[in-house]
Amino acid sequence: MIHLNVNGQVQPLEVTPDTPLLYVLRDHLKLNGAKFGCGMGQCGACTVLVDGRPVFSCLFPVSSVGSREVRTLESLGTAERPGPLQQAFIDHQAVQCGYCIAGMIMRAQALLEQIAHPTEQEIREHMAPNLCRCGTHMRILAAIRQVAAQGKLLAANPVREHA
Ligand code: FES
Repeated sequence: MIHLNVNGQVQPLEVTPDTPLLYVLRDHLKLNGAKFGCGMGQCGACTVLVDGRPVFSCLFPVSSVGSREVRTLESLGTAERPGPLQQAFIDHQAVQCGYCIAGMIMRAQALLEQIAHPTEQEIREHMAPNLCRCGTHMRILAAIRQVAAQGKLLAANPVREHA
C-alpha cells in the first residue's frame, strides 16, 4: 500500500512501486489533466509538480514521490473558476488541440511560484522542455507574461521577487 499526497489529500493506493505517477493519477485517481504524450520524457504533456518542482510524471515511479506533495492541473481551478494561469491561457486563446496545455500550465506555475516577475529569457528557458505540436508557443508565452506581470503566484519562499 502506498500513500500519495495529491492536491492536498492523502490517497491510499494499491499499486506496484514502479508504476509511473502519471498512470496512478489518471487511472487510479481519475485526474486526467496530465496527458500521456511520448512516455519518454521528451514532450512534457505529463508534467505535474512534486513539492513545487515540475516533473515528467510518465517517467516518475510513484514510489519516488514519498511524502512530497503532488499537484496537478485540477488543483489550480475549475472550468467555472479558473486559476490565474488558466484564465490567461483562455484570454490569449493559447490552446489549439489542448493536449500539451495541462503540462504547460503546471510548468509555468512552478516558475511563477518561485520568481514573481521572471525575465523573458527565464520564461523561455524554463518552458523549453514542454513542446506544443500545434505551434501556439507564442500565445503560451504571452499568457505566462500576463500572469508574470501581475506577480500573483509567488509562493512563501520565492527565489526572487523582482526581475
Ligand atoms: Fe511524459 Fe512526454 S508523456 S514527457
